[in-house]
Amino acid sequence: MSKSQAVQRLAELRSQLQHHAHRYYVLDDPIISDAEYDHLFRELLEMEEQYPELVTPDSPSQRVGGEPLAAFAEAAHSLPMLSLDNIFAADELYDFEERIRRRLNSSEQLTWTAEPKIDGLAVELIYEHGLLIEGSTRGNGVVGENITANLRTVRNIPLRLNGAELPERLAVRGEVYLARRDFAALNQQRAEQEEPLFANPRNAAAGSLRQLDPKVTAARPLSFFVYGIADTAAVPCRSMAELFPWLRSLGLPVCPLVKICGTLAEVEEQYQRLQQLRHGLDYEIDGMVVKVNNFSLHERLGSTARAPRWAAAWKFPAEEAEAVMSGVEFQVGRTGAVTPVAVLEPVSIGGATVRRAALHNQEEIRRKGLMIGDTVLVRRAGDVIPEVVRPLVERRNGSEQPVVFPKECPVCQQPLHRPEGEAVTRCRNIQCPAQRLQRIIWFAGKSGLDIEGLGPKNVEKLLDAGLIADIPDIFRLDKERLAALDGWGEKSADKLLQAVEKAKQTTLAKLLAALGIRHVGETTAELLAERFPSLDQFMRATQEQLLAVDGIGGQTAAAMREYCTNPESCQLVSRLLELGLTVQAVEKTPSGGQLSGMVFLFTGTLSSMSRAEAEQRVKDLGGDAVSSISKKVTHLVAGEKAGSKLKKAAELGITVLDEQAFLQMTNAQRVSVC
Ligand code: IVH
Repeated sequence: MSKSQAVQRLAELRSQLQHHAHRYYVLDDPIISDAEYDHLFRELLEMEEQYPELVTPDSPSQRVGGEPLAAFAEAAHSLPMLSLDNIFAADELYDFEERIRRRLNSSEQLTWTAEPKIDGLAVELIYEHGLLIEGSTRGNGVVGENITANLRTVRNIPLRLNGAELPERLAVRGEVYLARRDFAALNQQRAEQEEPLFANPRNAAAGSLRQLDPKVTAARPLSFFVYGIADTAAVPCRSMAELFPWLRSLGLPVCPLVKICGTLAEVEEQYQRLQQLRHGLDYEIDGMVVKVNNFSLHERLGSTARAPRWAAAWKFPAEEAEAVMSGVEFQVGRTGAVTPVAVLEPVSIGGATVRRAALHNQEEIRRKGLMIGDTVLVRRAGDVIPEVVRPLVERRNGSEQPVVFPKECPVCQQPLHRPEGEAVTRCRNIQCPAQRLQRIIWFAGKSGLDIEGLGPKNVEKLLDAGLIADIPDIFRLDKERLAALDGWGEKSADKLLQAVEKAKQTTLAKLLAALGIRHVGETTAELLAERFPSLDQFMRATQEQLLAVDGIGGQTAAAMREYCTNPESCQLVSRLLELGLTVQAVEKTPSGGQLSGMVFLFTGTLSSMSRAEAEQRVKDLGGDAVSSISKKVTHLVAGEKAGSKLKKAAELGITVLDEQAFLQMTNAQRVSVC
């Protein structure tokens, strides 16, 4: 391919990828499969590698995050990023209108926007001739931090705006947030890696945006909603009602719940509606922002030093409450981690009764200075487990007692260990009944084999009744004894046995996640199952082979080796297989695989595997392998002493990879940036 052809193809790829990313991330309406997207993305990466001088700042490849920074530079805002005045009740909404009317000295009908108040982080994005050139935090409102590299990694922030008539310079403002689903996945991953959990999506978003290494930010699936612009004179719109569709047409994501209201009664209605919708939304909102619709009125109303006079935030009632912490329980998890949990006198928060709250770990209790008997502030944020924010020290009466972290496991009484520098205290007795219970719960639960009807309560019941003592017993359950359980019967027994039978046919990924190996949750298990075709190969994998799997670090590899070489775990696995557990080979549909649509040809000698193995690997990943060169071939892998095929491939413009590049490509995690 000539350079001018490359320039053209790259432009095509960028625009196609931008279009599909917009459909996926902004419109939530993709028209191509992930595999097709990844295929285009790979082509882009390969071409950019070949022509680094043709990489543009709006290329989707630039979302992966560049080099780490030593510190953030300052970024001055052209116009201050103001705050908002708060209103707390409907009558204050009418006062707000009254103040506006007085200032305008008018009784004309006002129109409004009612917008969800997104609970994230305010940012400003500057586009010059449609190209994203700078992104910053709010900072003190006048000067923020330049976090352009990090904001480029946010998938639904366009790197280039659509449209022919774009302002020379456009400063848009909005909120970066972490969707609840993404927050839950991130915390689950962190739990698997035994890293401290984020308390709520907002903290997670803030922590992710303020990373000096943009690659860390790129790995966090942040999102963005635009809610305004710095300078209304810069846009071809006269009101918020015109602005939102215009911003949308440029490719910017506008929250779908923004509403234009003709009266304050409608604004009030929208407030009630948002409050109802609140917990079902995939992003957290902490109130509603009411804005005057008309821009000419914004100008006439102006701002105070703190906030514009044409907007106000109507917060939702706080989801916090005071409660007496009557004790602290220490729960032992499936890996032996001991977690303190606050026992509270029941309190209603946001419509739910809260009796327990997370305390995370020993260090957290010390840092917050909590004592038993304290009145504490408890916060419930969305679906997240309620947590103790802080003690209300002024409420103490002297009867409070310090929280004493036990030295022995509260269940099996064996000594607890807390390795230096680690936050987690652990019971190391694998036979500890608490660990066993949790292991069974995990094994049968959603992250494991997902056995219907065998949730935590029933696992406990079966254990208490002596029907099971460990995981393999699930596959030896006796119908009569099950049916004789309190409240059961033949029907329930049959139902459970059927579910167990069904769960026996499983996949390697599910089984690996179910075993409860430290650091191995669903995500890691998927990666492993992609790399190791059978359970046997996984159990025999060397540290090097494990480390070669992209996304698996030293700690995880070591934990897996420890598991696979431990006689007790080996015995568990063999017993499961003896009892009829079958690991099915996953049908790799060509369209879903990482190499789908690609045709590989191998030439020369490979050093790390036979040609047949390499071809199998390609097929496993959804690609095709052929033995002769033709135009169909997309990748030629050249080993030692590659011959004439290499020359022919060059003539046909086929991508040539060496063995190392092939290994990297086939080990690589799916590329999911856009
Ligand atoms: S307008 C000058 N609209 O709330 C007006 N703000 O408490 C500036 N926020 O710092 C803000 N959703 O980060 C506006 N739909 C929305 C918003 C919103 C969330 C945040 C914003 C601001 C804070 C003010």
